[in-house]
Amino acid sequence: MKQQLESIRKAALDAITQAAGTEELETLRVRYLGKKGELTAVLKQMGSLSPEERPVMGQIANEVRAALESALEEARKRLAEAALEQRLKDEALDITIPGKAVRIAHRHPMYQALEELEDVFVSMGFTVLDGPEIELASYNFDKLNAEEGHPSRDWSDTFYFDEDSRVMLRSQTSPMQVRAMETMELPIRIIAPGRVYRKDEVDATHSPMFHQVEGMVIDKGVTMADLKGTLNAVMEELFGKGTVTRFRPHHFPFTEPSCEMDVQCHKCGGKGCPTCKGEGWIEVLGAGMIHPRVLEMSGIDSEEYTGWAFGMGLERLAMRRFKIADLRLIFENDVRFLEQF
Ligand code: PHE
Repeated sequence: MKQQLESIRKAALDAITQAAGTEELETLRVRYLGKKGELTAVLKQMGSLSPEERPVMGQIANEVRAALESALEEARKRLAEAALEQRLKDEALDITIPGKAVRIAHRHPMYQALEELEDVFVSMGFTVLDGPEIELASYNFDKLNAEEGHPSRDWSDTFYFDEDSRVMLRSQTSPMQVRAMETMELPIRIIAPGRVYRKDEVDATHSPMFHQVEGMVIDKGVTMADLKGTLNAVMEELFGKGTVTRFRPHHFPFTEPSCEMDVQCHKCGGKGCPTCKGEGWIEVLGAGMIHPRVLEMSGIDSEEYTGWAFGMGLERLAMRRFKIADLRLIFENDVRFLEQF
């Protein structure tokens, strides 16, 4: 029996020290120390020994068990260390390889101009609204007092979705006036920036998609003087103190009286140059006092309330703000251009 135990010890220790993986170790543990293992089988024969032999064999058996257990523990540690070593090797970083430069993105100059504009209006108590680009013709035209037959409704100018001209890509942000009047509590002070669409050919000043910013104020006792005062203050914030503006009479179906606002040309200071096409002035927005019929159509009492509205071209504003000469640069998104702002 002693020999049996010794041969188990030798065979087991050899196998354990050579084991190449934790699974193999577990198989060896079961094979020698498990319930049906070799050592256990020997111990089961203890009963047949004489009372003198029993304690001696018992002690040897215990020693073998202890030796196998500690060998298993050591082998486990060895394998874990080797595995860690291998992982460190596999996942090693070569810090001598040159890195990939990260290119920091830029805010598009037009959106920079929009953010400046929004900041100015928000500081004056206006709320910024967002609205749909696919719009009902009733909001884009009818409720803005441009009824059936109005030239701006022509198929040659407008992108319609359906034969009976009811759904369209909005041609202006002015439908946001109606949406605000229908949903907001009075008094109202809003601006609404967004994309608008018209069937225009692309050139230095035109694009079939461009951006407008709509603005509207409705309250008791609002006058044309508020319109002029507010817009002049905004232009001075954007373009600097002393920026010169002028208001010219104009016509829009949804405002009465209507006007257009020009800013004196920054290039020539009003003398006339190629940038302002010899005019000395650059047109920046259309505006006016909201037509009483427009107020009434949206359920606002025009005897009690008055209001003004404006719509400005955002590209043009950004071009003036950053002295950009050609509209197409705004849409091309060439990084060499964008990186300059
Ligand atoms: N919607 C008009 C346009 O696109 C601009 C405008 C807005 C005029 C609000 C008056 C009031 O030309």
